Amino acid sequence: MSSNREQFGSRLGFILAAAGSAVGIGNLVGFPVNAAKNGGGAFLLIYAICVIVLCLPVMMAELSLGRHTRKDPMGAYKSIAGNSPWQIAGWLALITPFMIAVFYAVITVWLLGYLVNAAIGNLDQLASPDTFGTFINSNSIFVYFLAVAAIIFLILANGVKDGIEKAAKVLMPTLFLFLIGLVIFVLTLDNAWSGVGYYMIPDFSKINGAVISGALSQAFFSLSLGMGILITYGSYMDKKEDLPGATKMVALCDTGVAFAAGLMILPAVFSFNPDIKPEELSDSSVSLIFSFLPKIFLALQGTLGYAGASVVATLFFALVFFAAITSLVSIIEVPTASLIDAKGYSRKKALLVLGIGMGILAIASALSFGKIGFLTELTHYAGAKRSLFDLIIDTFYDTILPLNGLLICLFVSYRWRKTQLNAEIESGNENYKGTFLERYVNFSVGTFIPVILFLIFINTVAIKYFGSSLISL
Ligand code: PFF
Repeated sequence: MSSNREQFGSRLGFILAAAGSAVGIGNLVGFPVNAAKNGGGAFLLIYAICVIVLCLPVMMAELSLGRHTRKDPMGAYKSIAGNSPWQIAGWLALITPFMIAVFYAVITVWLLGYLVNAAIGNLDQLASPDTFGTFINSNSIFVYFLAVAAIIFLILANGVKDGIEKAAKVLMPTLFLFLIGLVIFVLTLDNAWSGVGYYMIPDFSKINGAVISGALSQAFFSLSLGMGILITYGSYMDKKEDLPGATKMVALCDTGVAFAAGLMILPAVFSFNPDIKPEELSDSSVSLIFSFLPKIFLALQGTLGYAGASVVATLFFALVFFAAITSLVSIIEVPTASLIDAKGYSRKKALLVLGIGMGILAIASALSFGKIGFLTELTHYAGAKRSLFDLIIDTFYDTILPLNGLLICLFVSYRWRKTQLNAEIESGNENYKGTFLERYVNFSVGTFIPVILFLIFINTVAIKYFGSSLISL
């Protein structure tokens, strides 16, 4: 254990950095659409249950493992299990964040492009149907790529306290302010409250096995589980820190932002088109952000004028961009920490090595939307052609994440052992011993959570690669 490992400077700094990781495109766009399509208030209830019953224990397990070993995920597996087959889980915990960072970086680059264009008065162009396709295949994305790479480098090169924590302390409060401002504004629009109704009134008839599994996946991804992020951030946490308390704050913050995002997106959609059916909402977060919402922002010019509509669009893209940057920072920190821990690289050298590898893959993925034929039609499965970008999302984001979560649970319960887990959590919270939470975490992490994650994993494999769901309740 290295005694001079970097650390977060304060409890608030840790909470904001971890919340910065958790609050991302998933919360701001994916969650509201999922909720509106899948039973409104009924989905919200199921989501909240998933967070409390299934995700909180996994969050605590990941943070404790990191804080105990003071290592990156690969180092954490290795320092407890040596050269055993658990090393495979360590490798997965390294490759997964690397690959997720690749596709997330592409979306972040597009967000920056839309943010800049909204701010310089090009909202009318953004709202035109062909813009997105043209923009993602234009050469200007290379400039935005460099800008995003520079921002991430500047934050991460400054380390945990002066880089990650400082950035989170600026970006997260700004993000909260923008979000609250936009929610208040959107709720004053005509027909806004029919959107609120659709979002919050429960429709239990829509709830089935697939919706429950979707709510769990959404919660799992939203809290950045299975990506090695919380192991890494845990390794920078003070031993005196109240781990369950901090975990609850991060989960609350993440869920609060997701909920508020629903109060921003759905009333805006309904004020634009009061007759819209939630089924007609875009299928993917990407098409919602880049094709659907710009039209809504432009329509605001009727009441606010073009400049006012552009300000609203700029605030929205800035909000999502900040959320994406803090998530990207957290996920790139995982392989960075691995290179520092395992190879003894300096932080800057680790970032440069990763930057080159990720940069090449990210640019290749960005070119897989038609610009380069071979990358656009890289492979074929479940009855359709898939691009490099699709392949990375399907494999790492959708499939391997639940597998990583499952492996963490098994590792913590049966290799590291629950007594060690409990001892780690008790450091910083003496009252934890003997509580209901302690018994619950011990039981759930060792039993039904891995079973549920296993079912989600095989169901995702069935859907993604064979085109049929195993859950059809
Ligand atoms: N919690 C993030 C989100 O909801 O978007 C998940 C995430 C994705 C974190 C990608 C980090 C990342 F690079």
